[in-house]
Amino acid sequence: MLRSSGRSLRLRLLLWVSLVLLPPALLSIAQGIANARRDVADLHEHLISTARTAAAPAENILASARDVARALSQLPQVRDGTAECGADLASAMRGISFFSNMARTNVHGRIVCAALQNSIGIDASRLPAWGLAQTQDEFVVSGLAHSPVQHRPIVLGLLPIRDQTGRFDGTLDVAIDVGWLSGILKSSRLPAGSVMAIFDRDGNMIASTNPAIAGTIFAHRKPADGEATVRTAEDKSGMAWTYATATLLAPNVYVGFAMPDTKLFGEAYRRAAIDFFLPLLMILLTSLAIWIVTDRQLTRWIIYLKRVAAAYRSGHYAFRPSLDEAPSELKLLGDAMSDMAEAVSDRDRSLREAVAQKSLLIKEIHHRVKNNLQVVMSLLSLQANRLKDFAAQEALRDTRARINALALVHRILYEIDDENTIDVQKLLEQLAEQTSEGFSGERDIVVTTDIVPRFVHSDMAIILSLFAVEAITNAFKHGFPDYRSGEIRLVLDEAAGGMLRLAVEDNGIGFNETDMRASLGSRLIRTFGQQIGGKAEIRSTVGKGTTIEIVFPDPAAPKMRKPDCAA
Ligand SMILES: Nc1ncnc2c1ncn2[C@@H]1O[C@H](COP(=O)(O)OP(=O)(O)OP(=O)(O)O)[C@@H](O)[C@H]1O
Ligand SMILES: [Mg+2]
Repeated sequence: MLRSSGRSLRLRLLLWVSLVLLPPALLSIAQGIANARRDVADLHEHLISTARTAAAPAENILASARDVARALSQLPQVRDGTAECGADLASAMRGISFFSNMARTNVHGRIVCAALQNSIGIDASRLPAWGLAQTQDEFVVSGLAHSPVQHRPIVLGLLPIRDQTGRFDGTLDVAIDVGWLSGILKSSRLPAGSVMAIFDRDGNMIASTNPAIAGTIFAHRKPADGEATVRTAEDKSGMAWTYATATLLAPNVYVGFAMPDTKLFGEAYRRAAIDFFLPLLMILLTSLAIWIVTDRQLTRWIIYLKRVAAAYRSGHYAFRPSLDEAPSELKLLGDAMSDMAEAVSDRDRSLREAVAQKSLLIKEIHHRVKNNLQVVMSLLSLQANRLKDFAAQEALRDTRARINALALVHRILYEIDDENTIDVQKLLEQLAEQTSEGFSGERDIVVTTDIVPRFVHSDMAIILSLFAVEAITNAFKHGFPDYRSGEIRLVLDEAAGGMLRLAVEDNGIGFNETDMRASLGSRLIRTFGQQIGGKAEIRSTVGKGTTIEIVFPDPAAPKMRKPDCAA
């Protein structure tokens, strides 16, 4: 039977190792989280700087528009909008392919001279940023506009012109071809998967490397307070993007640069995952190793040693465990068990020998007692033969019968191996036979036996046999006078309440119980009843025979529970 108490060694090891590894694992995880935070911050910075770098060509175009406008605004013919103004603007524009037009507007916004002649007279005050230009001194970029002359999208740069008194005196406008800006954006080398766009203050896209995605990501998102800002957004397919927006040269034009989160943070996520899961994996692998090692190196051998112990328990002391491949500690334990088995085996052998010797001695004693009792019986016989008095002869005969009963018990005890337990059936049958042989003489009295099989202790066997001798003697002596014939039954049967009943029944003359003169025999009978915890009874009816019985606890019956004292 497997008795187990408390946690197994395997579980204890797992618990301890987990406990020991947990602090460094948690430290590593915390470090991983800190690293991930730093990585994310670095990536935000990187996003902003990439946005700025990628926007540099577009910014250069706007800067050159500003510089050209500044230079031209210094020319008197341009400032005054004279006849040469248009020619000057046209010749200034000639080498710069990304300018689609240049024009001088008066204080009301009407074009007074332009590189493209057909734009003269157009009201430019309706174009975006006109209002802003009126209040500013610096070059202003309009954002996305539609050219009323060329009928295509442009970005308008407006340089406010002021007269000697500092009053607003119209603008010098540079129309930049949006197609050029788009071309420049698309030709810039951007990280794979990224999207870049330039848009105006109202969120109108001016140019983009991927208009479909840029439209959803950057719509209406200016940098906060003009500072470069990092935000997140989702495109139409639900993909997450992180993007940076920054002001591009002038307050009205912004650049946005976006990367999908998976691309941008992929590496950071991977590193964080490694920082997080590596310690856990370490604990898991350690636990696995402990599990396997304890199973292969410990549990297996312990189960084997348990089997060895079971073999010793069932007396196979010669068995020696083979622990060549077991760990040295278990080998030591195995050796200790072997030594113990050897010692137990030696002691067991010497005990067996002692017991066998003792049994032999006891048998010998029974044998001698039996022989001595037989000698006593012979002496009594000799004595009886020399007596003339019949009563004295009878007394000696009765005594011989009693001694015979004792001798019989000792003979049986000598014959059997277990010197303490006697087969009552065998004892009583032989007793009935021998006693009747001593009494019947020439009379026709049949002695029958009906005995349930029982084994009882030798003490009880002596009392039962003395009782039987006494009762059978009475039946022979008193039951059948004048050479009557009859029957004597010796019965041992089960009585109610876990009791046995030993009875000697005769169908002799019986006697009147009130006239009975109790002698030694009947007193002995009652004493025997008390000695074996039972009760003796003599019942007789004149002419109908006598029953002498003893009812006593059956040694084979299950022990009865004592009744409660309170009941
Ligand atoms: N089976 C029997 N049949 C008829 N009478 C009996 C029977 N058993 C006993 N008695 C009567 O009971 C009396 C008492 O018996 P008890 O055994 O005590 O004495 P005893 O046999 O006379 O002498 P002893 O002391 O030697 O046994 C006997 O004397 C006899 O009269
Ligand atoms: Mg008697």
